[in-house]
Amino acid sequence: MQVLSVTSEFFPLIKTGGLADVAGALPRALADENVVMRTLLPGYSDVIAGISSAGAISSLGDLFGGDATLLDARAQDGTELLVLDAPHLFARAGNPYLGPDGMDWPDNHFRFAALAWTAAEIGKGLIEGYRPDVIHGHDWQAALAPVYLAGIESRPATVMTIHNLAFQGIVPATELTALRLPPSSFTMDGLEYWGKISFLKGGIQYADRVTTVSPTYAREICTPDVGVGLDGVLRQRKDVLTGITNGIDCVVWNPGDDPNVLHPYTGDCLDAKLANKAALQARLGLENDPDTLLFCVISRLTAQKGFDLLLEALPTLLEQGGQLALLGSGDAKLEAAFADTVRRNPGQIGAVFGYDEPLSHQLQAGADAILIPSRFEPCGLTQLYGLRYGTLPIVARVGGLADTVIDANQAALVDGVATGFQFGSDSVTELRTAIERAFILYRNKEAWQQVQRRAMSRNVGWSAAAKTYTALYRELCSATTLVS
Ligand code: ADP
Ligand code: GLC
Repeated sequence: MQVLSVTSEFFPLIKTGGLADVAGALPRALADENVVMRTLLPGYSDVIAGISSAGAISSLGDLFGGDATLLDARAQDGTELLVLDAPHLFARAGNPYLGPDGMDWPDNHFRFAALAWTAAEIGKGLIEGYRPDVIHGHDWQAALAPVYLAGIESRPATVMTIHNLAFQGIVPATELTALRLPPSSFTMDGLEYWGKISFLKGGIQYADRVTTVSPTYAREICTPDVGVGLDGVLRQRKDVLTGITNGIDCVVWNPGDDPNVLHPYTGDCLDAKLANKAALQARLGLENDPDTLLFCVISRLTAQKGFDLLLEALPTLLEQGGQLALLGSGDAKLEAAFADTVRRNPGQIGAVFGYDEPLSHQLQAGADAILIPSRFEPCGLTQLYGLRYGTLPIVARVGGLADTVIDANQAALVDGVATGFQFGSDSVTELRTAIERAFILYRNKEAWQQVQRRAMSRNVGWSAAAKTYTALYRELCSATTLVS
């Protein structure tokens, strides 16, 4: 079976968050299920610099204002890629969505319409000898692919995965023709959204199947609280909507063999984790103390992630003698607020503002616990990395966080199944209580280590999700006729 994955991010070539990790890991995970996945991604400057290319495989002619070609390429690890080389749209370094002023590029709708258009053209046979059975698009950046394919005879099946409903790609209706969208798509049952064009709504309406990245988020987005204005549409599409929990790449994230980790360790030799803790304390200017409970944060700093709640709950952490190591970037006000707490609590709070992949591994290896107080979380990957590194996740009970961490309540502790701590979302009081519960467990070293070992033994890899995606692809392909 041949599947074309369509994505705006791909680890290790271009990453702002979890989408890159997922898109980067899926091809290898699916290969184990005999699914051949090729990945189509934009030829941003960083991508062009990071690939080895066999050259142009097809031409797309003029694509939204300039010439575009499709490159047959490979990532460093050999993963097969198709790279959309359209310099007028993508020859820009750094963040894939934002210009140097920190604002969205004004032509983002053309940039990602071009990505989806190319996917649809591939589906129609652009590349000689290659016809994917399924086109699997990720997020709003790929969402127009099923729209462009609508009405085409013997088209590939389409799957749309929502990694984050908060980003929808909404643009004025006046762009319809320029985006090469048929007027027939601009209806309530199509991609019209309050008089505008919504890329994501288009994908949800036209794809044969819609998935999101955890079962709980799949339920939550059908409610007005989490549905970000699309809950009604999603309720209507309930029959084709499922939640498939992400896995993680257990080769890239392996505490026993991680080139970024100074002192590799396994669940059988947890004391080696202490050496990483000491190194992390030194790196972030924290007091060298093996006994203090060291919490970490590795995150985009945005309203989604709930770190304003953590700022309010910090006194609880500090009064009990804990430490906090933060790696994050995003909202300027949140960065400033955390910078201020670092100044006022030298040796107890340390922060690095920016994006640093190796340091993110070192934090997972050196910290005792990872704080994830998200208001909503489609899946979340850092709690999965935390489980794998024996860094107990303290998570809000939402989305994929609720689905992947087993709360250390009395019953779970007695049964030996606990892997972290959950608390009611959007509540400082609940977060404080969860932090206090972590301190109580931490004082009982044996009990803490038992939970650590349990966490590290969880199967957080891709095998389960890869099987579920494969079953979904097969089911789609065995359906005799797809409604176009
Ligand atoms: P989201 O995709 O919503 O940001 P996830 O938990 O799914 O959340 O994925 C975040 C990914 O980005 C993880 O791989 C995490 O380690 C990484 N990450 C987030 N912030 C940083 C940072 N400042 N430096 C390095 N890696 C980061
Ligand atoms: C999004 C979500 C995150 C999820 C990631 C990968 O960025 O915010 O929860 O883990 O996509 O699916």
